[in-house]
Order: sequence, then structure tokens, then C-alpha cells
Amino acid sequence: MTISLPLAPGHFHLGQVFTSTSGKRASSACGAVIDLWQTDEDALYDNIDYGYRGHQFTGPGGEFEVSTVFPKGYGILGLVRSPHIHVKAQGAKTKLLTTQIFFPEDAESHARAPRFNPRLVVDLRQTTSGPPVATFDFVLEDA
Ligand SMILES: [Fe+2]
Repeated sequence: MTISLPLAPGHFHLGQVFTSTSGKRASSACGAVIDLWQTDEDALYDNIDYGYRGHQFTGPGGEFEVSTVFPKGYGILGLVRSPHIHVKAQGAKTKLLTTQIFFPEDAESHARAPRFNPRLVVDLRQTTSGPPVATFDFVLEDA
């Protein structure tokens, strides 16, 4: 399962697995919808054409893959936001999860961002043949 948001230098892939609350892959992870949105390279949300936003349904093991640019952080009403991607996810038999994921190399902005949560940082790895790969496992709670 792949969804492509607008690509630019510095893009990355995000591949992850849904699990059940038991920590095992579950059939409820298949066909879960994952909806993501983020800022563009200029730290702006596209509220006209809704670019940099997309959704897909997970595969048999709950897997999905996203290709997108790294989001930029921004400030609003004096609140610092370190770079993040907004996520909503839900399976047929799970509660709706609304969260955000962050990136590891923004320690300075994380320190100034009150909404940053270190438990929501992706595992980011450089590759020799392509863009960096970020992974994050979401756990959906049974309904
Ligand atoms: Fe945001």
C-alpha cells in the first residue's frame, strides 16, 4: 500500500504496521484507514487544494507506506510546533486514534515545543540507495 504526497528533495518513506492491543498483528489491522496531513516545504498547510494530505487502507498485515517530504515546523500564536505529521487511524473494530508523529533530529525545536512527545518520534534511518526510511508502529485500541 503506497500513498504519494508531493515529493521534493529530502523526501522519505513511512512504512508501519498496525497492531492490536494485544501487541500482535490482528485481522482488525487489515483495511484500517490511515489519514495523514502535514505542512509543505514552506511550513504551510494547503487549506485550498488539500495537498500534502492523503489516506489509504492498510494491507493484510496492517502495513502501509507513504512517500512525502519532510514537514517543516511552524509557530502559531506564540506556540512553537516542531515538524510533525498529523495522523488519524481506525480499523473496522477499533477506536479512532488521533495523534501526531515527530522526527528525531529536531532537539532544539522539541525543547521549545510544549506539544512534542518523545514517545511519538519515528525511527529514522538513512539508506544508501534511496530516501531515508522512517518507521512507526501504531497500536489501535479495540472498540
Ligand atoms: Fe500541525
